[in-house]
Amino acid sequence: MIITLAGGGSTFTPGIVKSIALRKEELEVEEIRLYDINEERQRKVGVLVDWILHEDLGLDIKLTVTTDKETAFSDADFVFAQMRVGGYAMREQDEKIPLRHGCVGQETCGCGGLAYGMRTIFPMIELIDDVEKYAKPTHWILNYSNPAAIVSEACRVMRPNARIINICDMPIAIIDLVCAALEIDKKDVEYDYFGLNHFGWFTSIRHKGEEVLPQLREYVKEHEILLPSSYLKGMSSLMKSNTDNEDESKQNRHTKGSWYYVWKGVYEIMELFPEYLPNTYLNYYLQQKEFVEHSDPERTRANEVEETREHNLFAGIDRYEATGEIDESTFYAGSHGDWIADLAVALKNDTKARFLVICQNRGAIPNMPYDAMVELPAYIGKNGPEVISRDNIPLFQQGLMMQQLNSEKLVVEACIEGSYEKALQAFTLNKTVPSMTVAKEVLDEMIEANKEFWPELK
Ligand code: NAD
Ligand code: G6P
Ligand code: MN
Repeated sequence: MIITLAGGGSTFTPGIVKSIALRKEELEVEEIRLYDINEERQRKVGVLVDWILHEDLGLDIKLTVTTDKETAFSDADFVFAQMRVGGYAMREQDEKIPLRHGCVGQETCGCGGLAYGMRTIFPMIELIDDVEKYAKPTHWILNYSNPAAIVSEACRVMRPNARIINICDMPIAIIDLVCAALEIDKKDVEYDYFGLNHFGWFTSIRHKGEEVLPQLREYVKEHEILLPSSYLKGMSSLMKSNTDNEDESKQNRHTKGSWYYVWKGVYEIMELFPEYLPNTYLNYYLQQKEFVEHSDPERTRANEVEETREHNLFAGIDRYEATGEIDESTFYAGSHGDWIADLAVALKNDTKARFLVICQNRGAIPNMPYDAMVELPAYIGKNGPEVISRDNIPLFQQGLMMQQLNSEKLVVEACIEGSYEKALQAFTLNKTVPSMTVAKEVLDEMIEANKEFWPELK
């Protein structure tokens, strides 16, 4: 097997490589390739990956580090995509521009997500075409690149036959914390979930076949947050261990810095709507006003990540190059890498294991459109996901999802058609935006900031 990481200079690359390496037998990995458009970033991460594979784990997996597409994708079996088009500099713009206009400023939600989507659609299509040209005909692209909801809609419209599965690590990160809170083992847990990406609900969580949502509701009510108590210690320090257990803390980057608010938000949402466990991202749509109030337009999550995850990774690599010493706490491993590597195992070995994936609805949620890209559990085998269908969803959730879905569909159409009016409709329709005038102000400022990246809108 040849596995290529596209966006090989990502802060998540070391963790993903570790997860792949630990599944070396199941995946029969012979070669890992890193591909990026940023040569220097790629080279540095390559140094650390080399250490992980050959020094730390002592494996005989070949490593290729390249910025050449043909070298990257020729005969590849899997491509794990994790590109951040525009980098952290543009993430800052996505978060800060809407905040200046009193709207939610978030990487993948609201106006920021729409803007990030407009940068990412065409590079993703280019990636699909490059992979199709060079990789094995049986290849799979497993895509983490955000905003996954908009990316997957663009793939459906423009490359309906692409061998791509879009995924997200948030639901599994939520399950990690549910298990820590209830002190149960993730391997005994199965769940039902429906939604769009970053816009969904757990409707059932079963431990050894027994429903645990009632206990979870009680837990969240009592603690007024979803986070396990041990994680709350030192929440304000961004990268430092904040639990009694170092390893556990390292694997839960979602419990650092401003992530606090969304775990608190789960409590606030469940106080009013206790039936389902909401995805943390619903906070941005259900508590837009509160989110804007506690945000600092001068310092957003992008700054936190730049100063911590990104800084620590590259400072750690520089230190290794200078001294030969490695500090493993400078990079993350854990669920994020395990989730994508396990999905590859299921595809390759036809295991029919259950995963949450973003897929075309095709009637699986009867009262959502046939062509909607939804997030649902599926059994994964060598031919891809077999989605598990369910009953109609309640009107509240369906209404919220339709509004968000149409906003995302409009932004894809805006890009394909180069339509300013459709882009404005997408921004106006988004639940995070209070009026069409505000939508226009944000859009116009974003057009300016994204000149290098967006298609021209007329
Ligand atoms: P990062 O900026 O550290 O890494 C992204 C890399 O992509 C950079 O090295 C960049 O040079 C490269 N890149 C940009 N455009 C490219 C292109 N056209 N072709 C190849 N490489 C390109 O960002 P990060 O924080 O490590 O996140 C990586 C991606 O993973 C982001 O899109 C992020 O939103 C996404 N992500 C998704 C999930 C999920 O749940 N789906 C979870 C975590 C991260
Ligand atoms: C979760 C989401 C991802 C998102 C990430 C942001 O994992 O599922 O889609 O990219 O959070 O995390 P960050 O630490 O970069 O703010
Ligand atoms: Mn996600």
